[in-house]
Amino acid sequence: MSKGLDGVVAAETTISRVDGENGWLIVRGIEVEELAATHGFEAMAALLWNAAESGAATAASVNRDLGAARARVAERVPALLALSETMEPIDALRLAVAAVPCSEANRESLEVTAMLSVMLAALHRRESGAAWIAPDPSLPHVTDLCRMLFGAAEADRVRALETYLVTVADHGMNASTFTARVIASTQSDVVSAATGGIGALKGPLHGGAPGPVLDMLDDIGDEAGIQAWMDRHLGDGERLMGFGHRIYRRRDPRADVLKAALSRFGARDDNRVALAEAVETTARATLARRYPGRGLDTNVEFYTALLLEAVGVDRRFFTPLFAAGRILGWTAHAREQRATGRLMRPLSSYVGPLPAGPLALSDAPALAAAG
Ligand code: ACO
Repeated sequence: MSKGLDGVVAAETTISRVDGENGWLIVRGIEVEELAATHGFEAMAALLWNAAESGAATAASVNRDLGAARARVAERVPALLALSETMEPIDALRLAVAAVPCSEANRESLEVTAMLSVMLAALHRRESGAAWIAPDPSLPHVTDLCRMLFGAAEADRVRALETYLVTVADHGMNASTFTARVIASTQSDVVSAATGGIGALKGPLHGGAPGPVLDMLDDIGDEAGIQAWMDRHLGDGERLMGFGHRIYRRRDPRADVLKAALSRFGARDDNRVALAEAVETTARATLARRYPGRGLDTNVEFYTALLLEAVGVDRRFFTPLFAAGRILGWTAHAREQRATGRLMRPLSSYVGPLPAGPLALSDAPALAAAG
């Protein structure tokens, strides 16, 4: 048995490869650094969706179809806002995605992608007491998202958000993608796979880390307090948010893509960035001392937090925004998994009591397999 499925290969994929030893991320043959520089959201969607069974999407066709999907899903937003009044944003998004009608995989992929951005923006505006802004189907997806979030779509904000969404669009067999693939392996629909993906993403060990990164910076306060803060929290058995990764044995390449995006966008608060850089330096050194040879380093969430804060996104919406990008990967993986036709059904190792009687301990594996 492999606890946490470490090292287990659960699927064959043509979508993405994470090379943890070398710190590489490749999506359909293209390195993440190049993708972030050359691909907009629609081009990324076409890249990810194209090898799926429905074929032949282009950036232009995704632009048109996603705009139309935003307009369709927007009709449900008032009802969803009413239903989700007391919910955390990520839970409200899970509800909204689950409410997308099941149809066929291509349409479902468009509508869950559209729903995440439209509903996220509506929830973000509600948080500040502002009325929601309906989508404009004629605009590119991230331009419209920016407009729906902030009331205007300044070019530097759009670029920063687009770089973020493209950078996090897919990442091998992470926990939420695995969840989506397990659901899809039953020949269930893309809507269900995406809904399950959100459930897995929200946990602090996966997509829930960037908000707590800012909480950590706030709590540390100034550079003089960094080491003492870390020793105290690590001593209490806590983890440093934004550091460490199951696969990477070195720096997550997405951290540098987002760090570059932050410096291009321009930090709105230089003190914040200086503190963050000092925290990063101390965290890497501290983790290297505590876990020599493990290669615990900065992951994608650290600079996600700083970039999204600079762009003006409320920290409670960092995980929802992650979902708005990762939806491209979940939908591509769900479709790839369904096309294999193979149900995912692993075993468990039963270590509980056996019934009294003739069953010997050696029968335990057979019981687990039968379960
Ligand atoms: N802070 C402190 N200690 C850590 C950290 C961290 N960030 N990461 C790992 N460790 C410790 C583990 O507790 C473990 O210690 P132990 O042997 O005493 O139990 C040791 O380092 C080795 O752990 P790994 O096997 O490398 O960790 P694992 O693969 O189980 O966890 C994870 C990976 C969950 C991402 C972990 O590094 C973590 O909790 N990081 C903080 C949360 C975070 O930033 N999550 C976002 C990840 S990126 C993403 O999902 C998009």
